[in-house]
Amino acid sequence: MKNSAEKPSSIVVAAFPALGRYVSKGGWLCFLAGFVGALFLGWYVFPKLLYSSQPQPFNFSHKVHLEEADDPEDVESCLNCHAFRDDGTFVGIPRLDKCKECHEDPESPLGDSDDEATFLTNYMAEKKEVPWLSYSRQPDCVYFSHAAHVKMGEIECKTCHGPHGGSEVLPLYRENRISGYPIGIWGERISGLKTNTWDRMKMDDCAECHTEKGHEENNACFVCHK
Ligand code: HEC
Ligand code: HEC
Ligand code: HEC
Ligand code: HEC
Ligand code: HEC
Repeated sequence: MKNSAEKPSSIVVAAFPALGRYVSKGGWLCFLAGFVGALFLGWYVFPKLLYSSQPQPFNFSHKVHLEEADDPEDVESCLNCHAFRDDGTFVGIPRLDKCKECHEDPESPLGDSDDEATFLTNYMAEKKEVPWLSYSRQPDCVYFSHAAHVKMGEIECKTCHGPHGGSEVLPLYRENRISGYPIGIWGERISGLKTNTWDRMKMDDCAECHTEKGHEENNACFVCHK
């Protein structure tokens, strides 16, 4: 019993024999407990407290809806729903009138899923728009044009949005309690590390790509903040 209680401190003392001479075993134990506790608070508890979460109204499967597309990876299959209007503005998340092209009769579902039933009874039959929560919504002060990026810049949806266009199950929507940003803006990792272009979309991430693509002229404050 006595032996195992002493274990963590004796490991540290063995690893740092010189320091061990000045710090008591109890001191090391307190340090370790505090250190591990701080890590736990900072990396696990704090991020959990910082974000509130909310489910989407019902599940929507991109995979199911792209099954009939000739090439589900091709941007044209996305633009069928996420269209550009004649004036060049982006529709964003499609509205009921788009869904109606296929789900026109709320009495006759196309499949047998509960999600479709929810959609048809609570929204289509009621003519009520679905209150989708956007994972990439930027604050109002940010100006962003899809036409400039998708049409002129020829950048793929995936570069900024990751694999969402092929998703089957919608992730939980999480929002920063302090800034009101969805978690996609600052990213999942509290360390700020980024391995994919779509891991986060902060001011620096926008500017980084502009510089990479030789469009530094778009890195002046007034270009993104009108
Ligand atoms: C049948 C219509 C339809 C098609 C086709 C479609 N989408 Fe969607 N898309 C939706 C709906 C509805 C939502 C809202 C629910 C959600 O977040 O998935 C959405 C949401 C998204 C979002 C989330 C945006 C945000 O800020 O939350 C992205 C990204 C997206 N779609 C990308 C794509 C890509 C890429 C393709 C082509 C591979 C595609 N979509 C094809 C209907 C469609
Ligand atoms: C091009 C035709 C088409 C359009 C447009 C379309 N759907 Fe569907 N949708 C289908 C078909 C077909 C199924 C049935 C698939 C199955 O269950 O086999 C389906 C199934 C569903 C389901 C159940 C499966 C899932 O995704 O979870 C939901 C919910 C749904 N649709 C919502 C929508 C919404 C919301 C829109 C408008 C943004 C929309 N659909 C637009 C054809 C379409
Ligand atoms: C250069 C990066 C970039 C590219 C490329 C891009 N998006 Fe976005 N997308 C964004 C940003 C940033 C937002 C948030 C805009 C805002 O809130 O003003 C967004 C928002 C959205 C939304 C949600 C809009 C809403 O109504 O809330 C949808 C849907 C979407 N994008 C789909 C797509 C699709 C589909 C493509 C490919 C055709 C695409 N995006 C290409 C960066 C991009
Ligand atoms: C993956 C690369 C990429 C990312 C990420 C990106 N941009 Fe861009 N952006 C471009 C390119 C390329 C152009 C120039 C398009 C052209 O003129 O051909 C551009 C142009 C612009 C313009 C000028 C065109 C216009 O509509 O006035 C603005 C504003 C802009 N970006 C804002 C943003 C913001 C805000 C973000 C982040 C939320 C962002 N961009 C993220 C590549 C990117
Ligand atoms: C390439 C586009 C881009 C440029 C250039 C840019 N910003 Fe931003 N800015 C953003 C985006 C995207 C956000 C939201 C995400 C974030 O907080 O990083 C933002 C957020 C901010 C915010 C916080 C607003 C809030 O409500 O949280 C301030 C303040 C700001 N920017 C000031 C500036 C100033 C000052 C400059 C010029 C030195 C500048 N920005 C240049 C894209 C840009």
